[in-house]
Amino acid sequence: MIYTVTLNPAVDKTVVINDFMVDSVNRVSSLRMDAGGKGINVSKVIQSLGGRSKAMGILGGFAGRYIKKYLDDIDIENDFVFISGETRTNLKVIDGKNKTNTDINEPGPNVAECDLEMLKNKLLEQVGNGSIVIFSGSVPENAERDIYYRWIDAVKQKGAAAILDADGELLKKGIEAGPYLVKPNIYELGKLFGTYIGNIEQAAEYAELLVRKYDIEMVVVSMGKRGALFIDKAKAVLAHALDVEVQSTVGAGDSMVAALAYSIGNGLDYESMIRLAVASAAANVMTSGSQPADLSVIRELEGRVAFRYLKA
Ligand SMILES: Nc1ncnc2c1ncn2[C@@H]1O[C@H](COP(=O)(O)OP(=O)(O)OP(=O)(O)O)[C@@H](O)[C@H]1O
Ligand SMILES: [Mg+2]
Repeated sequence: MIYTVTLNPAVDKTVVINDFMVDSVNRVSSLRMDAGGKGINVSKVIQSLGGRSKAMGILGGFAGRYIKKYLDDIDIENDFVFISGETRTNLKVIDGKNKTNTDINEPGPNVAECDLEMLKNKLLEQVGNGSIVIFSGSVPENAERDIYYRWIDAVKQKGAAAILDADGELLKKGIEAGPYLVKPNIYELGKLFGTYIGNIEQAAEYAELLVRKYDIEMVVVSMGKRGALFIDKAKAVLAHALDVEVQSTVGAGDSMVAALAYSIGNGLDYESMIRLAVASAAANVMTSGSQPADLSVIRELEGRVAFRYLKA
């Protein structure tokens, strides 16, 4: 089973306001609400790939109940700890006329240590050999920055494989627990080493350093339209991004993480995994908003994925 952990989920509220203006009254011409947060988005993409996952995390209040019902309605198994605070709502204002995108993101509620412990115990009761646990996105502001480190360490002791997709200190500390797979983008990878990575060769070198130092099975470095690197102890592959019409690149990395988890869970070989990861990410780029792409589109794109070995 694949588990996704979302410690700071969000209701994503997208409104279209043509000619959006600050300091004035704006009228919304269309509105859509989605259950969001990185882990939940990964669960949605796994489902569109034909796989199953269980979404776990922390929810609270009206927005929390909305997310729970949303997942129930689309038949994504879920198991959340409910808290007394209110899950955040992130507002996205799309102005079609001026071609602007404005995000207004809430920080999310603080979560008591006992609630985090309860969730961790729930997770540990369920995972075992063969489980895959995905830790992605931000965490409550009051949570310790080594939370992913501790949870990765704990699921590993149960025999599960951990996948980490986070930024900053969460990533830095989480990596030290030796997750099975990490997927930083090139900026996140640079920040880990306190530098800006300008070229692909340098990114591959840094990724290989991580693989060796922390005994990580695979580091996947996503590089936007420059594609992605897939680095393990023996091999290094550079996959080119597909040339597709860009609707929204938000969440392309999450789609890649979903495809990687699905591939590992279903025992896909290395090259099939690369094709599925790049195709799923490209399909995400082609679709606007937070709706996952269609499997038929992903299958068609898979055949167009090109990559070369930097090291075999
Ligand atoms: N403009 C683009 N055209 C084609 N493919 C793209 C484009 N942008 C991203 N991708 C694909 O998506 C993958 C992941 O993108 P990116 O590196 O932007 O992830 P990310 O920064 O982690 O994104 P997020 O955290 O918002 O999900 C890339 O490796 C690439 O394959
Ligand atoms: Mg990302």
